[in-house]
Amino acid sequence: MNESGDIVPVAELLRQAKKVVALTGAGISAESGIPTFRGKDGLWKNYRAEELATPYAFDRDPTLVWEWYNWRRGIIAPVEPNPGHKVLARWEKIFPEFTLITQNIDGLHWKAGSKNILELHGNIWKMRCTEEGTITDNHESPLKEIPPHCPSCGALLRPHVVWFGESLSPLILQRSFILSSQCEVILVIGTSAVVQPAASLPLSAAEAGAKIVEINLDPTPLTPYADFSFRGKSGEILPLIDKDLRRES
Ligand code: OAD
Repeated sequence: MNESGDIVPVAELLRQAKKVVALTGAGISAESGIPTFRGKDGLWKNYRAEELATPYAFDRDPTLVWEWYNWRRGIIAPVEPNPGHKVLARWEKIFPEFTLITQNIDGLHWKAGSKNILELHGNIWKMRCTEEGTITDNHESPLKEIPPHCPSCGALLRPHVVWFGESLSPLILQRSFILSSQCEVILVIGTSAVVQPAASLPLSAAEAGAKIVEINLDPTPLTPYADFSFRGKSGEILPLIDKDLRRES
């Protein structure tokens, strides 16, 4: 493992690569001002996931759950993508195959201009009808009605996000594992790498021969398996790698 934080060999690795995957977590949006989940001021330090982010919690008190999502939407709405998001959006244009797999629901990768995104845990700006299953975009902030109801059938709407105890979309998950097992480099950015099945994607990529490049403020359970490990902010390290990548070789 190279923990020297040396940009040059990673830029060189990327320069040779045709198929690249980036797996992102809450850390990439931290510099935009969105709280992470497990850090010192992380959401799960101050809120109990089982009271807010489970199907059981929603059945028991949909208003409470929607108030929490309304609060989170209010934090995210005015926020702008940071240089880390922007570099990943640019890389989609320069690599022959570049896939962004994110655990984030904040929509900031879209806002930065990425188009090829697999959202493992859904999107906070989408709602799903609990009866019909229809998914709609909704950017209202604050919400006019809490809890909101389906305009077509009147049933409760829920956030189109994955809660604890729920399965991820099989299609998105399958695609994520296929692309990870086909890539030459997987960048793992700003994730504590403890939530499954996302945490298994880098390992399945490595088993199939990919190099793992990790960018994180702190070591994670994935760090021992990373070929290159950067300790620092993704909003600073990604632009440095990008700068070297642009350099004429
Ligand atoms: P976590 O909050 O668990 O981890 C965030 C990671 O980002 C930590 O390892 C931090 O060290 C790192 N980090 C923080 N700021 C950073 C920065 N500026 N640059 C680089 N790294 C930084 O978030 P996730 O791993 O995304 O799931 O959490 C995974 C899932 O757990 C979430 O999608 C969510 C949560 O429960 C659901 O809600 C289903």
